[in-house]
Amino acid sequence: MAEDWSARQYLKFEDERTRPPRDLLAQVPVSAPRHVIDLGCGPGNSTELLIARYPDADVIGLDSSPDMLRQARERLPKRTFAQADLATWSPQDRTDLLFANAVFQWVPDHPAVLRRLLEALPEGGVLAVQMPDNTNEPALLLMEEVSRTGPWAATLAAANAARNDLPSPDGYYDLLKPLSAHLDIWHTVYNHVMAGPEGIVEWFKGSGLRPFLAPLDGDMRDGFVAAYTARIARAYPARFDGKVLLRFPRLFIVAVR
Ligand SMILES: C[S@@+](CC[C@H](N)C(=O)[O-])C[C@H]1O[C@@H](n2cnc3c(N)ncnc32)[C@H](O)[C@@H]1O
Repeated sequence: MAEDWSARQYLKFEDERTRPPRDLLAQVPVSAPRHVIDLGCGPGNSTELLIARYPDADVIGLDSSPDMLRQARERLPKRTFAQADLATWSPQDRTDLLFANAVFQWVPDHPAVLRRLLEALPEGGVLAVQMPDNTNEPALLLMEEVSRTGPWAATLAAANAARNDLPSPDGYYDLLKPLSAHLDIWHTVYNHVMAGPEGIVEWFKGSGLRPFLAPLDGDMRDGFVAAYTARIARAYPARFDGKVLLRFPRLFIVAVR
């Protein structure tokens, strides 16, 4: 990614953000791996889950962001974390599990990268992936809408900040099944309880909003956030207790080589 991630902002919703990797890990059919790699490890929250499930394995975290790697090393000082770009990185022989929670949606042409990584695994090796499948949710559509309709439009058109839709499960099946002894693909739709519309905006400041906000500064950035917050408040009405539900569909893939 062109801009750095803020580990602090990302971890504001740590409980909610760690639920999908827990759900993904629960379906990984490996009991005693020796070499495990957490791809796009972020601040180490997903790495921590892997270590808890596989205390005897060599678990390594990879990320492209220095800020995330710094946080991960502080959190898990005895473990190895390294900088790598998944677009070009390849596993060494004998890797038992590649775990990738909430990262491949940011990697250009990720289906081809997934196929390449699966192909590199030994027989029985597992590639486990989770990605948000939310590009048609109001929270994402409204980012794009705001980006086209303000004084920031030209800057953001050049930045090309919007994420592409994920391919369908059929597409992943046709791509990965020829290389898989077993392939499991499913969706889960979470409904995260947020304190209010501002909570939704804070959530996406740690992820999807970052490419929209990074090219803007000062008043432009504040103006974008205000326009987005107003639209979010209309799209996510308050429940009886003032809270709002952030609907969040996610796609899961577990492929066994
Ligand atoms: C949403 S965070 C996920 C963090 C963690 N895996 C989790 O489960 O919460 C996505 C991470 O992917 C990293 N990332 C994005 N593009 C990447 C790339 N091309 N190569 C490696 N890491 C990348 C970001 O720096 C960020 O830390």
